[in-house]
Amino acid sequence: PHPRPGKEPTPRPALGPFAPELLRKRYLRRDVSGDVAETAEEMFSRVARTVARAEGRFGGDASAMAARFRDLMAGGLFLPNSPTLMNAGLSLGQLSACFVLPVEDSMDGIFGALKEMAKIHQSGGGTGFSFSRLRPKGDPVRATGGVASGPVSFMEVFDAATEVIKQGGRRRGANMAVLRADHPDILDFVRAKERAGRLQNFNLSVGITDDQMRRARSGRKLDLINPRTGQVAEKIEAAGLLQEVAASAWRRGDPGVLFLDRINDAHPLPGTIEATNPCGEQPLLPYESCNLGSVNLSRFAGRGEVDWDGLEGTARLAIRFLDDVLEVNRFPLRRIREETLKSRKIGLGVMGFAEMLIELGISYASKEAVGMAEEAMKFIAAAARDESRLLGEERGSFPLLEESSLDWDAMRNATVTTIAPTGSISLIAGTSPGIEPLFGLSYSRDLLGEEMVAMNPLFERMAKDRGLGDGLIRTVAAQGTLDGAEGVPDDLKELFVTAMEVAPAQHVKIQAAFQRFTDNGVSKTVNLPPEATVENVLNIFALAYDLGCKGITVYRYGSRDQLLHLGEGGR
Ligand code: CDP
Repeated sequence: PHPRPGKEPTPRPALGPFAPELLRKRYLRRDVSGDVAETAEEMFSRVARTVARAEGRFGGDASAMAARFRDLMAGGLFLPNSPTLMNAGLSLGQLSACFVLPVEDSMDGIFGALKEMAKIHQSGGGTGFSFSRLRPKGDPVRATGGVASGPVSFMEVFDAATEVIKQGGRRRGANMAVLRADHPDILDFVRAKERAGRLQNFNLSVGITDDQMRRARSGRKLDLINPRTGQVAEKIEAAGLLQEVAASAWRRGDPGVLFLDRINDAHPLPGTIEATNPCGEQPLLPYESCNLGSVNLSRFAGRGEVDWDGLEGTARLAIRFLDDVLEVNRFPLRRIREETLKSRKIGLGVMGFAEMLIELGISYASKEAVGMAEEAMKFIAAAARDESRLLGEERGSFPLLEESSLDWDAMRNATVTTIAPTGSISLIAGTSPGIEPLFGLSYSRDLLGEEMVAMNPLFERMAKDRGLGDGLIRTVAAQGTLDGAEGVPDDLKELFVTAMEVAPAQHVKIQAAFQRFTDNGVSKTVNLPPEATVENVLNIFALAYDLGCKGITVYRYGSRDQLLHLGEGGR
């Protein structure tokens, strides 16, 4: 599965400029004295060999498949989520990025979940929780005769534990907390991160139903319901609540919004989904886990054309890889193993979409970009589904297929597609993350405590090809965009549009285009310039809902500590 001759993308090394440093610090195997004990090539071989062992179980040729898996990764065409790269073949052996744990309304329930979280973080996974079942602040507690302290105060305990564990030193713990919009403590939750430094290891999402969205739109009230008694505790304006969510998101980037009915309507299995993984792209049932992987789209576009054959081959092989991961994975808890293997969810997604568009001469800000998002994801999803069907015929279907709403005779995995942020693996592959536009043509980034400065390689090449002067390149290096730069042809300005120059509605349209062909969720941040308003944020929520997104996250530049800065010194 390699791009066909004659259609090669911009020639560049298989891995990105930051890859050696990142791999050395976080990914490569270490010996007992803590020294790095493998090269990047050896890492890919280790992962490929470990994952391909599954082939042997089904009578396949494990070593032949290992060679194909290795080429896929070492060639920068596809990478699995970080825990697979870090842990495959090592004693830990935990390969998944995403978990959801239930939190029941009791001391055992809460602290049981905390212990389970600790185990998952130690193994490199991230956890999502719904705190909606916990009784509100001030509610009676029979055992002690006292009163409950509410979901937000328990979240602080989870946050503190996360801080202490730091995921075995390789990956900091990450969590998602979901609270339903009708929980009596919802306003505390919405504002929980406004104090700087609080709940740093959590992303927050407000879970909203269709009925609640309709109430907000028609100026009606919303009943806040005590989950312990089922009784109405209070009535509030639904629109007022949404306004509060938008105001907090405007100030701090949190909370995001999850459209709970959307998620459950699209979910093919029995049971209700209440939470997602930390970055929001993977809704899961309690105790389910999911392993993700991403195809590097930038590798399949060159000279204005898409290498569809190469893309199909890669997507199919990637699905096989992810299903094999389920076979060889060492699950952190027995319960997680059981639930995960009932549905066998996997999530193939993409990275490098923005760079693919540039290779094709399409501006991220254009209608054509939305069309290409749909075309590419529809194509990948079809290949992924078909490969899972073939695997189902070959290896047996996932156990819940009969009870699911999927209308297939054979299917190996209940879900096959998810669009992850690819925060780390896109750096390894050296391309733009997930489906995000270029953040800047040059940007500085905090990487493991060190400041890295980079110029986008596609822009560098284009600037050379088109004979743009050194002065202009210096301007771009300093400010990170072509904004206001003189003597730049309009087509280049359009092609190299950056995240904050793309209209917010366009961000949402791209997200929605990918969502239409993605089984699980889509990770996307709608980047807003500093001068955006709360009203803008509300409009983004509404548009995301109308276009069928499963959730939405906004981020206003400068609204909290950030890893990325435009240009060499920040904006
Ligand atoms: O690029 P990489 O595979 O490292 O991860 P990602 O695509 O940025 O994030 C995918 C998922 O990994 C997130 O949604 C989380 O579930 C998990 N994650 C985590 O547990 N801890 C982190 N520090 C980052 C991601």
